[in-house]
Amino acid sequence: MTETIEHVPHSAWGGRFSETTDAFVQRFTASVDFDRRLADHDIDGSIAHARMLAKVGVLSSTDCEAIIAGLEAIRTEIARGEFPWSVALEDVHMNIEVRLTERIGPAGKRLHTGRSRNDQVATDIRLYLRAAIDACCSELRRLQQGLIDLAEREAATIMPGFTHLQTAQPVTLGHHLLAWFEMLHRDYGRLRDGQRRANQCPLGAAALAGTSFPIDRHDTATQLGFDAPTENSLDSVADRDFAIEFCAAAALLMTHLSRMAEELVLWTSAQFEFIALPDRFCTGSSIMPQKKNPDVPELVRGKTGRVNGHLVSLLTLMKSQPLAYNKDNQEDKEPLFDTVDTLLGCLRAFADMVPHIEARRDTMAAAARKGYATATDLADYLVRKGVPFRDAHAVVGQAVSQAIERGCDLADLPLADLQALCQSIEADVFTVLTLEGSVAARGHFGGTAPEQVRAAVQRARQRLLDAP
Ligand code: ARG
Repeated sequence: MTETIEHVPHSAWGGRFSETTDAFVQRFTASVDFDRRLADHDIDGSIAHARMLAKVGVLSSTDCEAIIAGLEAIRTEIARGEFPWSVALEDVHMNIEVRLTERIGPAGKRLHTGRSRNDQVATDIRLYLRAAIDACCSELRRLQQGLIDLAEREAATIMPGFTHLQTAQPVTLGHHLLAWFEMLHRDYGRLRDGQRRANQCPLGAAALAGTSFPIDRHDTATQLGFDAPTENSLDSVADRDFAIEFCAAAALLMTHLSRMAEELVLWTSAQFEFIALPDRFCTGSSIMPQKKNPDVPELVRGKTGRVNGHLVSLLTLMKSQPLAYNKDNQEDKEPLFDTVDTLLGCLRAFADMVPHIEARRDTMAAAARKGYATATDLADYLVRKGVPFRDAHAVVGQAVSQAIERGCDLADLPLADLQALCQSIEADVFTVLTLEGSVAARGHFGGTAPEQVRAAVQRARQRLLDAP
């Protein structure tokens, strides 16, 4: 293996050192391979800092203009893939600063006045996360929209509702899809809520104690679109709770996606056949010609593991750290970046796929007819005829057991046999034993009746408009 690391005294802090950094240590402590993703935000932060320094008279306007022009040129260089990244310069911040001085001369060396990489990196991550949350939220909205549209289409489609994965009561597919919508809607709220808390500007905290220069922290905060500067300089550089909060929200969101994924996988199987997914979201098998595998939901289910893992990584990273900044915090980036990438990918895949889910209405209805899904309706019927619920429960239990013996549905039992179990049963019993009657009967707010699903769809559309 060849070492390509430059072995020079560190230009940023080499002054008090009598020997150069060990080659391995240099690579071990460097973060540039992954934190270069922050380059754009780092440049934005530096420009805001330079402008503020000029406003308060710490930097001449000539130097400020040169710095800004230099940073913009570097931004272009990076975008074009022409930037000479160097591991010897440790991280994205030093790489850009050194390059700035190479390009514009001594003015570049004045940029770091009144700041530290500690408040710089804390700012960069917050800027990065703010944009990442916007991106996640817009994909999440697209997925929610798809669920609403599908729910509207399938508002009256009857399927078995499950508890313990055993047939429980008939529900409408639209209602089931809107249950997913609700989970995701809370996730959306959690992401936005965390974003609000993260949107404060640490710039000016410098290394930990603030700076002796007459900086204007409100100015940099405003320039960068933050709601306010952070209150406490130590806290500003020490905590990454905003990243943890995001990962917690992401883990929960992924957990919700994994539940959707699991059901989609089940529903596409030959044993369920509730839905079909378009071929373009599936793959085949190299040996079994008949196979069409639901890889997209399977992968989403699988990727939930790494996101949940990243949450635990960050919590463990933060645990017991003394104030203020510690190098440990450099380890916040890879889990955070991977969480964002994974979440965005999963949301995008589902948002693209959901509108094209094809419901197999006949199979679902047939499945709902198995497993005595309307047994509760029969019990409720008896209660309306004056039978106490517990007695009704026992009667229906006997009816189910007779139906099992005969291998038929509750609705197929002769009226006389039902009446032998309970005299209160009359000929009108058969209307409550139908699937349509069962779902229509649950016509209250939040219930599964088609008409309620349609009303919930309208409310859901409005809720998306109300909280963009
Ligand atoms: N690369 C560092 C990080 O990600 C930047 C801050 C370094 N600060 C320091 N004092 N070494 O946390």
